[in-house]
Amino acid sequence: MTSLAIDNIGLLVTNDPTLGEGPLGIVRDTALVFEDDRVAAMGRPGPDTDRRFDAAGRCVIPGFVDSHTHLVFAGDRAEEFAARMAGQPYEAGGIRVTTEATRSAGTEELRELTAQRRMEAQRGGITHIEIKSGYGLDVPGERRLCEIAAEFTDDVTFLGAHVVPREYEGRADDYVDLVCGEMLASCAPLARWIDVFCEEGTFDADQSRAVLSAGRDAGLGLRVHGNQLGLGPGVRLAVEMDAASVDHCTYLDDTDIEALAAGHTVATYLPATEFSTRQPYPDTRRVIDAGVGVAIATNTNPGSSNTTSMSFCIALAVREMGMSVDEALLAATLGGARALRRDDVGCLAPGARADAIVLDAPSYLHLVYRAGVPLVGATFAAGREVWTSNPIPS
Ligand code: NIG
Repeated sequence: MTSLAIDNIGLLVTNDPTLGEGPLGIVRDTALVFEDDRVAAMGRPGPDTDRRFDAAGRCVIPGFVDSHTHLVFAGDRAEEFAARMAGQPYEAGGIRVTTEATRSAGTEELRELTAQRRMEAQRGGITHIEIKSGYGLDVPGERRLCEIAAEFTDDVTFLGAHVVPREYEGRADDYVDLVCGEMLASCAPLARWIDVFCEEGTFDADQSRAVLSAGRDAGLGLRVHGNQLGLGPGVRLAVEMDAASVDHCTYLDDTDIEALAAGHTVATYLPATEFSTRQPYPDTRRVIDAGVGVAIATNTNPGSSNTTSMSFCIALAVREMGMSVDEALLAATLGGARALRRDDVGCLAPGARADAIVLDAPSYLHLVYRAGVPLVGATFAAGREVWTSNPIPS
């Protein structure tokens, strides 16, 4: 067993209200002790602790849990982004552009691109990540993306139902049969989740239900992309099928909010998507006040949200979507864990995975107050220091 103490913490966010003040469970002037990959204790470390990291009065928070990413892709759509900034609308059809680039890329190239993005995310404090397929859109292509994703996380999502590929134009039902049959059989052993983009122009309610049912029968948990481009059946379908999360939620009406409030599906917001598509920011207040569990995720992808920065997403959620800083921090940590139906990440209680961020700031408020400044001084994942601007001498 190896032990590590993060010592001289000025302000510790545990996300466990039984351990400290308020919903964030804040403890001041303390230390955190890790044994192997778990949180062992809070408070003064014993003299026999193997290694020490001096937080020097800084703030320590749980690692960010990013519950929605499309990390495995090739190519770039910067021109499309620039056109949107000049007034063009976002169109889901861009997914096919990235599918072509991804199909053409070698496996080693895709693995290296994914590793670089994963490292960038860790530098920004993301200690747990979900990764979707969805840019292969044929059996070997989706399988290849799931295999690469599985090298980086145990939360792999099979998203064969991302968009209907060009070769199935006008034959969406045939493509859904492929997704639910051979493609699912090939990808399910590598995945924990199945997802579908339920939206006008991609998959309708019946097609989405067929995909989710087939995934459930194959032993996968359910996730839905819903209500991104307009009102529609995505949110209600997700709740009806007890999906763990419905992601985007940009357009919600009262019926959607009532359904969410009556169910167990987390509403996951992706603020960098509204930033990058120029769609309106959703008002999270109505949803939070209705008692719905919420998460914030980055939605890293080359089309609608090419960022790995959870700090940026938190700042947008506070500035543009009606969340308080405390709510946004909870949504980016514990909220993400709940959206992935996990209880081992998203908090710093004894027994939890030792995933923590040392901020170069006295308080987590600075994540928003000093928006745009890289404040992650060190990232610890499963008890290991995976990024620091100031390494511990070994
Ligand atoms: O979550 N909505 C569908 N999928 C991605 C967009 C992917 C793309 O444009 O390439 C999203 O926003």
